[in-house]
Amino acid sequence: MSAFRSLSAADLAGRTALVRVDFNVPMEAGRVTDDTRLRAALPTIELLTRKGAKVALLAHFDRPKGRRVPEMSLKPVLSDLSALVGKPVAWADDCIGETAAQTIRDMPAGGVALMENLRFHSGEEANDAGFAADLAKLGDLYVNDAFSAAHRAHASTEGLARLLPAYPGLSMERELNALDAALGHPERPVMGIVGGSKVSTKLDLLKNLVTKLDKLAIGGGMANTFLHAQGHGVGASYCEKDLADTARDIIRLAGENNCKLFLPLDIVVAEQMALNAPSRVRGLGEVDEHERILDAGPETVARLQRAMANSRTLIWNGPLGVFEIPPFDRGTMEAARGAAELVRAGKLVAVAGGGDTVSAMNAAGVADDLSFMSTAGGAFLEWMEGKALPGVEALRI
Ligand code: 3PG
Repeated sequence: MSAFRSLSAADLAGRTALVRVDFNVPMEAGRVTDDTRLRAALPTIELLTRKGAKVALLAHFDRPKGRRVPEMSLKPVLSDLSALVGKPVAWADDCIGETAAQTIRDMPAGGVALMENLRFHSGEEANDAGFAADLAKLGDLYVNDAFSAAHRAHASTEGLARLLPAYPGLSMERELNALDAALGHPERPVMGIVGGSKVSTKLDLLKNLVTKLDKLAIGGGMANTFLHAQGHGVGASYCEKDLADTARDIIRLAGENNCKLFLPLDIVVAEQMALNAPSRVRGLGEVDEHERILDAGPETVARLQRAMANSRTLIWNGPLGVFEIPPFDRGTMEAARGAAELVRAGKLVAVAGGGDTVSAMNAAGVADDLSFMSTAGGAFLEWMEGKALPGVEALRI
């Protein structure tokens, strides 16, 4: 982390910190249904307030596209946030201008305020210099604790970082350290598991990973495309047949980079993708035309377990099967529990992340056992693709 300033070492008393957080939380009927992202901001808020800084929280919610859309206000977050912070959080009805400035002036040292949705201003997504300057006027230092929004080059994630002394927040710092341990400077052998349905959305990711990893297991619907590319019938399975050449390119690239690819050895098939639908284990090439591949088979999972046991680092994105619908959750659940056991035994560093992956690890009951679980979606994928994240780059000294 030497390329970043350290918030823990900063002189904070009497200063106002503009803290970019990701409060783009799931909500139903105006209530927060998952407060993970609110909780993620707490260590930074606690550090800043304990050291006597005023905290102005900057966040976006949804995609209002530069207009004030009442249903996309951040105000409904306020009561949950206040409860988590342990004291009332002030509300500013705008994130710039006199309303914002007055809210901050009215706060005592150690106070916390939440500013209205940044994306109500078109300057936010446009990374407009004037809008960034309006934000910068409100504070003395900038803290970015929103890794999950760091793939966006917006005013509050990029422009503002260039106008004030900029620090990664504690959650951001933790995330960057974990990601560096998994892919930047991993203990080898390092293995990846990439699942999910579409090869098309993960092409860049697969191409990057085969150049960095010692082993890569491909599962989920995207493995069907690889099986098809190798000449195995996939029946009625989801399969991007037009990407067969691309799949073969990735297999070749893996070979050139000494990355051992693990494709399924056996699969679980069914005629219907439904709860408790009758299913069978099939070998490659044994899938009937009405059958769909919905999970990795037992031999495949056993081989993955062995490969994980012979690795020091694991990075995981995407499920191995349709984990939301038992019995097609088995492959993902067993592999996840196997990884967690190795982590608990101190034999493996395992980092998982990306939308579905969090739900899958929660379903397996291992979210707290892995070395690190990233709740970032797009940012985690772009980082796995090897892309520089604007919100991270702007924090470098
Ligand atoms: C997310 O929820 O992944 C982040 O908050 C980014 O949101 P966005 O995709 O609307 O930029």
